[in-house]
Amino acid sequence: MGPLSVPPYTLHITWKELLLTASLLIFWNPPTTAQVTIEAQPTKLSEGKDVLLLVHNLPQNLTGYSWYKGQIIDLQHYITAYTIDTEMIVLGPAYSGRETVYSNASLLIQNVTKNDTGSYTIQITKRGEGTEGVTGHFTLYHGPYIPSIFSSPYYRSGEKLYLYCFAISNPPAEYSWTINGKFLQSGQELSIREITTKHSGLYSCSARNPATGSESSAFKTIKVSGPCHGDLAGSHSRLPPQRHCEKDATMKSYKGG
Ligand SMILES: *[C@@H]1O[C@H](CO)[C@@H](O)[C@H](O)[C@H]1NC(C)=O
Ligand SMILES: *[C@@H]1O[C@H](CO)[C@@H](O)[C@H](O)[C@H]1NC(C)=O
Ligand SMILES: *[C@@H]1O[C@H](CO)[C@@H](O)[C@H](O)[C@H]1NC(C)=O
Ligand SMILES: *[C@@H]1O[C@H](CO)[C@@H](O)[C@H](O)[C@H]1NC(C)=O
Repeated sequence: MGPLSVPPYTLHITWKELLLTASLLIFWNPPTTAQVTIEAQPTKLSEGKDVLLLVHNLPQNLTGYSWYKGQIIDLQHYITAYTIDTEMIVLGPAYSGRETVYSNASLLIQNVTKNDTGSYTIQITKRGEGTEGVTGHFTLYHGPYIPSIFSSPYYRSGEKLYLYCFAISNPPAEYSWTINGKFLQSGQELSIREITTKHSGLYSCSARNPATGSESSAFKTIKVSGPCHGDLAGSHSRLPPQRHCEKDATMKSYKGG
């Protein structure tokens, strides 16, 4: 069952009715006995997927339901409605083309985007009694996208190694570091005092979305050269000149310095 297109005059009439119920609601408090609940399936969701907002404990003898984006029942936030007697679907201004209301009141939202996160309100109209608003909420999780590692590419022995990792993620990612595939530590920053050439290697930052469990990693090769004094190897010719080494006359022999 897909959303139906309705003649303009029908929409007009329905909006009038909605305006009436909306203004009625201001003066009407729903009874505390109403235990209508909304459940999002799945609860953990990523962009591009579909979510079904299931309505539980629906009362008997209803005339219809209306869905709203957010917690406000007004025309601007009106997505779609279903009228039971006529089995008609009405589309509102907040309808994006991806929402489908079912005859059991559930709302399907396809191909969700970040903008779809937040609250949804269902307004239930009881026959001869009045309306009732129930608010549901679901969260859209996304990421982690591929992390970025911020660091200086070259280090010398005795210096402090500092790496920082960041990945876009909602909720924020949990980070962990490895060197040459071996676990080092968790946390967004990696800081090692007084490094030696042994700290050279392939560093990896792994970002994990704690809600979805999905993971994304980035790698960075860090080269730690020997200290300026007693540094005899010719393997550093590719290195840019180091400030604290330039003071040292013995370092002038470097090629390309
Ligand atoms: C309602 O209808 C939808 C679509 O047919 C279905 O997936 C869902 O399980 C039904 N049940 C409830 C409680 O909403
Ligand atoms: C439904 O509403 C009608 C009219 O108000 C009433 O006569 C009937 O008893 C109701 N049925 C149920 C199951 O509540
Ligand atoms: C989902 O959304 C993306 C981006 O807005 C779009 O390119 C794609 O065609 C959509 N897919 C479906 C099934 O609606
Ligand atoms: C999300 O909402 C913002 C602000 O309302 C809008 O600019 C943007 O185009 C929307 N993005 C999508 C994918 O709907």
